Amino acid sequence: MISENHSIYKLFNEDCKCLMKRMPSQSVDLILTDPPYNISQYSTGNISREGKTALNNDIADWDKEKINPVEYVNAFKRIIKPKGNIIIFAGYNQIGEWHKAFDNEFDTFQMFVWHKTNPPPKIYKNGFLNSCEFAIFLWNKGHIWNFLSQDEMHNFFECPICSYPERLKEPFHATQKPLKLINYFINIASNPRAIVFDPFMGVGTTGVSAVLNRRKFIGAEINFDYTMAANRRISEII
Ligand SMILES: C[S@@+](CC[C@H](N)C(=O)[O-])C[C@H]1O[C@@H](n2cnc3c(N)ncnc32)[C@H](O)[C@@H]1O
Repeated sequence: MISENHSIYKLFNEDCKCLMKRMPSQSVDLILTDPPYNISQYSTGNISREGKTALNNDIADWDKEKINPVEYVNAFKRIIKPKGNIIIFAGYNQIGEWHKAFDNEFDTFQMFVWHKTNPPPKIYKNGFLNSCEFAIFLWNKGHIWNFLSQDEMHNFFECPICSYPERLKEPFHATQKPLKLINYFINIASNPRAIVFDPFMGVGTTGVSAVLNRRKFIGAEINFDYTMAANRRISEII
């Protein structure tokens, strides 16, 4: 385990499937996670940009390891509390697989769209900008849900992608999520002092948001440098 203040957060540099086997049943209030999208397989070569890094779908080696939602459904069901929520970012290419594995296991399966107000450019101007990402929300009846008016609850949120100074330069993580979006999710889907778990935490954005919003956090990340970066980010705000 890597973390300094164990009563507020615990970080594990290991495969989340191993960690979840040791986690007690019904021990987590919110699973909020951003697993690999497996979009590298759709890379069709580089689009070069003068003075800037080339654009392609080959975002990172970690994205090449196939995520199979069926391998996560039993563990997620076992560790989530009865009133808990599950939020999973999913690539457009994966939504069907998540739906097939999870829809029958929870009362509700709902889609959510994050609209990026500053998406990457479409160099050849030959299609839509990739300005949307998707998340799946899962819960059972009686779940924790915090909002004032139904009118404000569109399954849609707009904010920019994470950029400097919030974005880490070292280590750079290709898919670091913006705190504004994660704060929105955490406040709707959990209460203060809740235990938030991110099995694919990257550089720890869910953990930073959880601690900023007075929740407790458990995170797993298979890459050592990302785990250490998450530890630095979270320990700085405690
Ligand atoms: C999409 S990124 C998450 C980024 C994160 N939301 C952030 O803001 O930093 C997915 C992460 O899952 C990690 N990962 C992949 N397979 C894993 C596994 N089996 N257990 C734990 N982490 C894993 C990758 O190394 C990668 O950093």
